[in-house]
Amino acid sequence: MSKPIVIAVDGPAASGKGTLSRRLATQYGLRHLDTGLSYRAVAQALMAAGRPLDDEALATEAARAVDFSAFDAAALSAHAVGDAASRVSVFPPVRRVLVEKQRAFASQPPGAVLDGRDIGTVVCPHADVKLYVTASPAVRAGRRHREILRLGGQADYAAILADIERRDARDMERADSPLRPAADAHLLDTSQMSIEAAFLAACAIIDDALGGRN
Ligand code: CDP
Repeated sequence: MSKPIVIAVDGPAASGKGTLSRRLATQYGLRHLDTGLSYRAVAQALMAAGRPLDDEALATEAARAVDFSAFDAAALSAHAVGDAASRVSVFPPVRRVLVEKQRAFASQPPGAVLDGRDIGTVVCPHADVKLYVTASPAVRAGRRHREILRLGGQADYAAILADIERRDARDMERADSPLRPAADAHLLDTSQMSIEAAFLAACAIIDDALGGRN
């Protein structure tokens, strides 16, 4: 059997990496894992138990209980859960437990597209292709703002922009697995790109990197 193909997609909040990764998984016949949901599930478990987000022992226990096949993506997608996730994701034991589960997912044939913050640097450093998807903070805040309004929620653009900038700083400055492009990642700045244009640009990079493999 041929070795599983792994495509790593990293980038900051609301960069469009989730939508892009889902489309890439369909295009290349691979499974998809949004690793952000695993950190969101840990945060959600603490919030549901009424515990503070700095309870490292309980967060680690919640990480052990995370089951990718049982995610309630709708409940985990709230903007506030994303912010809470970035707080529990600084704990090294939480990361160790979740990274091990993410690697197990990636190693199943036929392979997978994983999106997150540390896929190309830590989770799958030998990925076949690494993309680092980004966009300016103003563009990302605009996308998140429109998404919340489209789903019928209420949102303030300035507050979302401030949240995104705070989350970028927390994710990039943490000691364990900070958000940064892997040395061999292909940068994809989608500030001026539609979803379709970003998808086509990513496919061109992947086709080139995989060569005759797929
Ligand atoms: O969708 P959005 O980009 O807003 O967030 P997410 O991808 O669901 O990630 C939520 C938080 O989880 C991030 O801000 C990171 O702090 C953390 N995370 C991480 O540390 N490592 C990953 N591989 C994925 C997410």
